[in-house]
Amino acid sequence: MRSLFQWLYIFQRSKKSTFMPVILVTGCASGIGWAVAKTLQKQKRYRIVITAREKSLSKLREGFVEDDRLWILPLDVTSDESRKTTIRMIEGRWGPVNVLVSNAGISYRAVVEHMDSKEEILQMDTNYLGPMELIRLVLPNMRKVGRGKIIAVSSVSGMLSMPTMSAYSASKHALEGALESLWYEARPYGIDVTLIQPGFIRSNSFKKVYYTKLSDPKVALEGDYKDFYIHMTPFVEKLMALSPTTPKVVAQKILKVIRWEAPPLWVPATWDAVIFYYIRRLMPRRYLLPFLYMCLPKASSWAKDVSHKRKD
Ligand SMILES: NC(=O)c1ccc[n+]([C@@H]2O[C@H](COP(=O)([O-])OP(=O)(O)OC[C@H]3O[C@@H](n4cnc5c(N)ncnc54)[C@H](OP(=O)(O)O)[C@@H]3O)[C@@H](O)[C@H]2O)c1
Repeated sequence: MRSLFQWLYIFQRSKKSTFMPVILVTGCASGIGWAVAKTLQKQKRYRIVITAREKSLSKLREGFVEDDRLWILPLDVTSDESRKTTIRMIEGRWGPVNVLVSNAGISYRAVVEHMDSKEEILQMDTNYLGPMELIRLVLPNMRKVGRGKIIAVSSVSGMLSMPTMSAYSASKHALEGALESLWYEARPYGIDVTLIQPGFIRSNSFKKVYYTKLSDPKVALEGDYKDFYIHMTPFVEKLMALSPTTPKVVAQKILKVIRWEAPPLWVPATWDAVIFYYIRRLMPRRYLLPFLYMCLPKASSWAKDVSHKRKD
């Protein structure tokens, strides 16, 4: 004879198995976001909301067909109205978001002197401020439900900065710092927080880097910082082309985190992310940057013909 508690447990288990978590993914029109959407589409136990900016929605509609568990919605992570509307629509139809995959991001390619405050703000808005606002919109209901997952696509640039990527690195460092705090704050409420850290990925996303007025190759390849652009751009592109990791591999990592009972805060998504992590941790700080500087292509000759560096 089963006791009342056993019957209750069986009832709860059966309810649990029909529960289909709602997953919201940002920036799905290309790269990692697209791969995550394709990966999750095959997982019949989730309801997924895949989103893109209005201008990229048609691309998403060509690649995906909506049904009772896949929904395509516009979402610009930098717009307060867009964020609120999207969350309101999801909650109205499917209930609270159970998993947020914050993936949308942009990357400026410019040395510090070639950024202005407007460009810095757009970088931070897209990679940090917007995602944080979205997190704030889904957290209250996750706390009410007593479970949830915040998964944010960060980068190796969130632990190490490279020349010509100051604003991008700053945005990912900010994301890493804030989500490290959130990990503690969300833990007692049953909410997992994870930073996916890709390094170089074999994809076309390098073609989508943003240039500023001053870092635009039309002008920057002539100026004082020309060596940085001449060497860094092909260097990054080469490492990306050589990387064994594709957006699909990163998407599989994200699926693993979604299924993971208690995932860690940091999940490296490429082999170089693991290497950079250990270099950063194990190498004495005094030698770290000179060592990395030496690894950059022809760095010893950068800016030689324009530098006024004093030897005395
Ligand atoms: N590729 C890499 O090597 C690499 C390495 C480390 C980390 N990451 C990170 O991985 C994430 C995905 O990047 P990816 O490589 O897949 O590059 P991607 O192909 O350029 O994808 C980025 C996506 O974000 C979307 N997006 C940009 N601004 C947006 C906004 N304001 N609102 C909503 N969506 C917006 C883009 O949409 P549109 O099509 O409308 O522009 C695009 O679909 C980013 O956070 C990036 O920083 C990438």
